[in-house]
Amino acid sequence: MADLNETARALVAPGKGILAADESTGTITKRFDSIGVESTEENRRAYRDMLFTTEGAAEHISGVILYDETIRQSASDGTTFPKALERQGIIPGIKVDTGAKPLANAPGETITEGLDGLRDRLEEYRELGARFAKWRAVITIGEDIPSEYSVWTNAHALARYAALCQEAGLVPIVEPEVLMDGDHTIERSFEVTSRTLHAVFTELRDQRVTAEDMLLKPNMVLSGYDCSEQASDQQVAEQTLECFRRHVPSAVPGIVFLSGGQSDEDATARLNTMNAMGPHPWELSFSYGRALQAPALKAWGGDAANVAAGQEAYLHRAKLNGLARSGSYSPDMEEKVPA
Ligand code: 13P
Repeated sequence: MADLNETARALVAPGKGILAADESTGTITKRFDSIGVESTEENRRAYRDMLFTTEGAAEHISGVILYDETIRQSASDGTTFPKALERQGIIPGIKVDTGAKPLANAPGETITEGLDGLRDRLEEYRELGARFAKWRAVITIGEDIPSEYSVWTNAHALARYAALCQEAGLVPIVEPEVLMDGDHTIERSFEVTSRTLHAVFTELRDQRVTAEDMLLKPNMVLSGYDCSEQASDQQVAEQTLECFRRHVPSAVPGIVFLSGGQSDEDATARLNTMNAMGPHPWELSFSYGRALQAPALKAWGGDAANVAAGQEAYLHRAKLNGLARSGSYSPDMEEKVPA
């Protein structure tokens, strides 16, 4: 059996983080719509091929999260994507939940599905080359939500998934995402993130998940998108660290933040601010989807002639986030990274 702790630590190695490229077909179709590209299987393959074969990415990217369709696809030279990544020293992973669905008797809240048959699917993904897996629970902030019911059912499902992953020899990336949609304050985000982490780590412990052999993928503690008062990067960093220090065992090797709709630059700057305030009990890293891909998607625009431009845009963001791992990023690098 693979050493899960070793894989977890490799995923949060200094200067590196994770690329989340596990958009479901529905989500990648939305991203393609935004650049006017048709979401065909070949276009989805070509886009992922561009990202995964970017030369030099492995200096800043430790792992890539794939989607069920993607893990079965190949790069243009015929190498399967997991092999193509592994060859560069990048660890392949896989999203294994099947999406957030309406939670019964809880208007406005969801429960993430995908537990039925999961043991067999994990075995297959491992054979296809995956070494870690991801499951995303979604917690929404609203007037009377989240309910304790939705927080605890989602935490229970996350722990069931995580336990099965460890049994199967895959590192679970446990992702309870408190959404930043809404007009709530950063204090409310702190309170809800705190309740969520409390439930998640209680369930993980009850279900005998070992903290050393997992990673946590959470939201940062942020002001709601539509809140009239937006917290500064410094406040975000302080609130996020205070919240996580209270709830995340130091045995967890790393916290890999999602970007969750923050701008690319905000996501990088806030991670940088937190790392500049270190050392911390855990590695603080990134597992960004949009914040790593947005400029690359735009530069590519669905045209094979733009692959080099897309790769350059992706590498640039990967580099800056890699620097944010040690507090070495500064906004003037957005124009040009020093050699
Ligand atoms: P974002 O960074 O775009 O939030 O995506 C990360 C992710 O994997 C969400 O599940």
